[in-house]
Amino acid sequence: MNDFLIFHWLKEVNHWGKTPEGGISRLAFSQEDKGARKYVIDLMEEYGMEVRIDEAANIIGKYAGTEPDLPAVVIGSHLDSVPSGGKYDGVLGVLSGLEVVRHLAQNNIRGRHSLEVIVFSNEEGCRYPYTLFGSSVMMGDFHKPWEEIKNMQDEQGIKLVQEIKELGGKPEKLFLARRNPEQIKAFLELHIEQGLVLEDKGVSIGIVEGISAPIRFVLKLMGSADHAGATPMVLRRDPLMGASEIMLALERIVKETSVTAVGTVGQINVSPGAVNIIPGTVTLSFDIRDIDLAARNQIVRNLEKVIREVCQTRDLKYDFQEIFNISPVMLDTQMISLIEQVCQEMEIPAIKMISGAAHDAMVMANHVPTGMIFVPSVAGISHNPSEYTRNEDIMKGVEVLGQTVLRLIK
Ligand code: GLV
Ligand code: MN
Ligand code: MN
Repeated sequence: MNDFLIFHWLKEVNHWGKTPEGGISRLAFSQEDKGARKYVIDLMEEYGMEVRIDEAANIIGKYAGTEPDLPAVVIGSHLDSVPSGGKYDGVLGVLSGLEVVRHLAQNNIRGRHSLEVIVFSNEEGCRYPYTLFGSSVMMGDFHKPWEEIKNMQDEQGIKLVQEIKELGGKPEKLFLARRNPEQIKAFLELHIEQGLVLEDKGVSIGIVEGISAPIRFVLKLMGSADHAGATPMVLRRDPLMGASEIMLALERIVKETSVTAVGTVGQINVSPGAVNIIPGTVTLSFDIRDIDLAARNQIVRNLEKVIREVCQTRDLKYDFQEIFNISPVMLDTQMISLIEQVCQEMEIPAIKMISGAAHDAMVMANHVPTGMIFVPSVAGISHNPSEYTRNEDIMKGVEVLGQTVLRLIK
């Protein structure tokens, strides 16, 4: 595979959602996402794939094997991005799958097993909070009640069900998207590392052994919106001051509990939000992750205790709502060995590592043998317009993916 179209495709697809800062805002099911999806569907068809959209609006492109009844080998990732994200997160995994298919098609190579490339819908969960939506629906791990799904809307009031329908999905029949794991021989995802480990070690390939997992919740703190001049300090019920204590406690608890844990408050909404009003309500988002589930649970328990104490001391009311919760996973040891063997044969240095970020692979790994290939993120930067991965590293990643696929489809 010594010619690559992936760089051209990356440029083209990233016209969708390009921001003035050079980053990408391609929120799930937005106009930008729709444009990128269309671009990828056209490419799939150009290289002889049979394309279908499932009930969750996942795009499934199939490059048929010579024995179509055998379980498929699947490559998958996502096209949606975070607000003001980068040009590689997710999209690289989709396009590297297409690069492998293009190589097979142009060289007239067909394995016994079919090869599928899947674009999972709404991986990021930024516009609608159902993170890892497409893969979870596909593997039967999405259990939100219909009452909630049907009313789910974004900040502009646009309904999730309307967007899914517009893309050819059937939100009222999500259960039909469920795949039998026996129909999938293996799942592979190539992704940027989004951290500093590969850069630090100076190697181009990471073989993921396990994926750390987030729990996310929204905390609403309610006090009393009063006059900023007329209300003495001792008489205030200020939820933003309470939030500050809670956030600093989060940082302390995470650091004390586990070296692999991380905790983030990424969103704060202060209401009414004026210079001369003490806030009446503050809403905070929490994202807490670890590869060690027991430690992560401990952090959440300790944090809840702090929230109760702070609210009691400051006479605040609170509402604590879990919005996402997935357990860490270890990936399949045979897939890890296979990728390792491919790297050795190709004389490409590789290291085994843990993923701090979440991926569709973590859903798939609970059901089918799953492997993940990482390529370096320069300076470890991701979810940021400066996200960058060198072309030579991408080429190595695609080669490793391609060679792994060749061994699996034959
Ligand atoms: C996905 O990018 C996540 O790890 O939040
Ligand atoms: Mn991401
Ligand atoms: Mn991603």
